[in-house]
Amino acid sequence: MSDAAGVDAAWARLEECAARLRGSRILDLMGEDSRNQRLRAEAPHIHFDGSRQRIDAAALDALLELAESCNVSAALNALQDGAIVNPTEGRAALHTALRAEAGDRATPAFAEAQHHAAAAREQMRDLVAAIHARAAFDDVVHVGIGGSELGPRLASDAMSLRKRLGPRCHFLANVDGHAAARLIRDLDPARTLVVIVSKSFGTEETMRNAGLLMDWMTEAGLARSDALSTRAVAVTAQAERARAFGIPDARILPFADSIGGRYSLWSTVGFSFALEYGMDAFEDLLAGARSMDRHVASTPLAGNGPVLAALIGIWNRNLMRLPTRAVVPYDQRLRELPMFLQQLEMESNGKSVDVEGRRLVRDSVPVVWGGVGSNVQHAWFQALHQGTQEVPVDFIGVIQPDHAFAASHRALLSHMLAQGAALLRGGEGAGAASIAAGGSADTGASDIAPSATPRAASAPGSSTADVDTVDPHRRVPGDHPSNTLLVDRLTPEALGALLAFHEHQTHVQGVLWNINSFDQFGVELGKQLAGIIAPALSSKKSAAKADALDSSTRNLAGRLARAVKTD
Ligand code: F6P
Repeated sequence: MSDAAGVDAAWARLEECAARLRGSRILDLMGEDSRNQRLRAEAPHIHFDGSRQRIDAAALDALLELAESCNVSAALNALQDGAIVNPTEGRAALHTALRAEAGDRATPAFAEAQHHAAAAREQMRDLVAAIHARAAFDDVVHVGIGGSELGPRLASDAMSLRKRLGPRCHFLANVDGHAAARLIRDLDPARTLVVIVSKSFGTEETMRNAGLLMDWMTEAGLARSDALSTRAVAVTAQAERARAFGIPDARILPFADSIGGRYSLWSTVGFSFALEYGMDAFEDLLAGARSMDRHVASTPLAGNGPVLAALIGIWNRNLMRLPTRAVVPYDQRLRELPMFLQQLEMESNGKSVDVEGRRLVRDSVPVVWGGVGSNVQHAWFQALHQGTQEVPVDFIGVIQPDHAFAASHRALLSHMLAQGAALLRGGEGAGAASIAAGGSADTGASDIAPSATPRAASAPGSSTADVDTVDPHRRVPGDHPSNTLLVDRLTPEALGALLAFHEHQTHVQGVLWNINSFDQFGVELGKQLAGIIAPALSSKKSAAKADALDSSTRNLAGRLARAVKTD
């Protein structure tokens, strides 16, 4: 339990720091190298540079004081020990046990979870080997949504330049028939394996898509029982439901109910990844995440990568009052990372009451968004450079490429560094030329003074016209914060470490906000309403219950019912 008085005092000290720093320029703060070094961290496979933040040494001390007051170190160990960190569902959150080695932690809860995970992994290994040996499939369709899709999709895409050891993996998540239609158009039902991934084995989108694919196979002449027994695998915490669906036990891969979907890649949910790239690659993915778990558990808060990133996030969200954060991986293979982090962070920390059920007194998770660099420079970086809303950016770069186009890689990384530098120092077109001629950088005293304009007006429309002579249409204010994470090479280990880095960052922020990061009751209402509305769309008469909803829903459902072809 955190010390409430200490926590309040730490927040109060942080507010004082924010008041002092709000008008300061980041470049000026970067003039102190010891401060810069404290805002950087070495974590397994990752160099984290958070020095381009509106944080000075005193503010960092106050952030660390908050972490101490919230007992972050104890929380980090409690998670890995299998404590009940999800009190609303009375569960642990033992995703770290999925990638741990026996004996890593001393608690019975950990030992049981690690033992079951290892057993499930052996069943997975055997099934991968059997499928590889039969070589009966050219394609796998991984059917799942949310945490049952985003991690596996990201991992498959991230490793797409590796030699495939098994069938090509495709992903089907959306209940929109266009997704299925586009997919099966190019696949041969006789050479396709369907992997149904659903912790509940009850998510409508997944179950409809699974049924649609089984129909697709039977329409191709395969008996349904054969399709279910030889062309389908189930990955679920609800084995009984998978059996009832018709999947034989030997093709049901279990994982524990205590594993949250957004934390489940490390379980048998990673089956399609192992099929595509081999169990060794999957084990390497686990090893990378395990190395991050050990870093987090053994490193003091001050040098702890995920903790530092979490504290910077709290600073920007709660002290600088920034409502969003952008994640921009400068590697095409990580294009799915922003979406993965959207679920990880926003489904974990998109809460408005604390663990005791009391309304939060400060904001929780920012809106997480982003896209792949360098593409997004040509989409929305204009708004970051000259818009009225400040957006902290996380740049993620990979040092060693897995292609032979060295000049392209240098260009990519140059753009990533340039965008961070431009967000920081601002200026306008001519400024770049002067820097090239040797203007200094860090001290903020370069001979091309970055535009002295304070950050953009907080309220759109109010002008912060400054005395600069530069053309206001061309002026780039700069003074915007960003982090940069550098990954050595995008191996399965490094990917595992990168994802675990963000899992721990998310957990630490949940601890600092005193919320439960491991439940997600907010997603249930929409599912229930969909069940009420659906009948109104499949019959000409409107469904009474749907009529009880709002007038817009009635209007829209009425129009759709008249237009939509029903089965
Ligand atoms: O979005 C709600 C959610 O429960 C996610 O947490 C989960 O990853 C997803 O739906 C899919 O759930 P399941 O794996 O049970 O099909």
